Amino acid sequence: MGKRRPLVAGNWKMNGSRSESAALLDGIKKGVSSASKAEVAVCPPYIFISLAAKKLSGSAVAWGGQNLSVHKSGAYTGEISGAMLKDYGCTYVIVGHSERRTLYGENDALVAEKYGAAQAAGLIPILCIGETLHERESGQTETVVARQLDAVLDKHGVGSFRSAVMAYEPVWAIGTGKTATPAQAQEVHRFIRHRMEAQDKTVAESLRILYGGSMKGSNARELLAQADIDGGLIGGASLQAEEFLTICRAAD
Ligand code: PGA
Repeated sequence: MGKRRPLVAGNWKMNGSRSESAALLDGIKKGVSSASKAEVAVCPPYIFISLAAKKLSGSAVAWGGQNLSVHKSGAYTGEISGAMLKDYGCTYVIVGHSERRTLYGENDALVAEKYGAAQAAGLIPILCIGETLHERESGQTETVVARQLDAVLDKHGVGSFRSAVMAYEPVWAIGTGKTATPAQAQEVHRFIRHRMEAQDKTVAESLRILYGGSMKGSNARELLAQADIDGGLIGGASLQAEEFLTICRAAD
């Protein structure tokens, strides 16, 4: 990990009641000190973001959204803008999660637009990319990851990654309990950093690239020990304070 400050971000997805969310926020807040080396963030469902803001403001834990609209405001029923997230103190917003891509038809162009909308609102996008099992097995991992990355690089430039975070999330590892091996993950993380390096060495060196996909307390340490893995985007294991905190401590 070295020079980059690790980030462990919880992606709660569509889980939890109000009281469960409150308890989870309290538990996480208690376990994260401002002295810890790793940065910690949670991304609750939209409706619990004001609760996160209330519970976490003044703490060492940041919060963010799981998605945002490309539009600033207007007749877009059911949508939430970047400005609204910012207004509730969000630091981050996840963009291009594979569930958004596959279940809600978000393509590379839309994801690139959302990335821009996030930055325009003063949010730090956590840009997710990753291949499916079929793509990996047919040897297309690098092609797919490069295509997803280039869609954003071409539209917003390498300089935009000064205020962005990447997340490599192999789709076959998300929610399946099948984690990429540390070597498999490192190989793709290295590839991503190399591709950025070709455009700007400084940006590439400071860019945090998180791993996501069945990361948990018991496998976090070996993944985070890889040279180009700078933290984690955690789904299932972020729903229990102790499990999530174990990952945070592994990143410290
Ligand atoms: P998982 O999800 O940790 O449950 O595999 C990760 C993610 O989708 O961000």
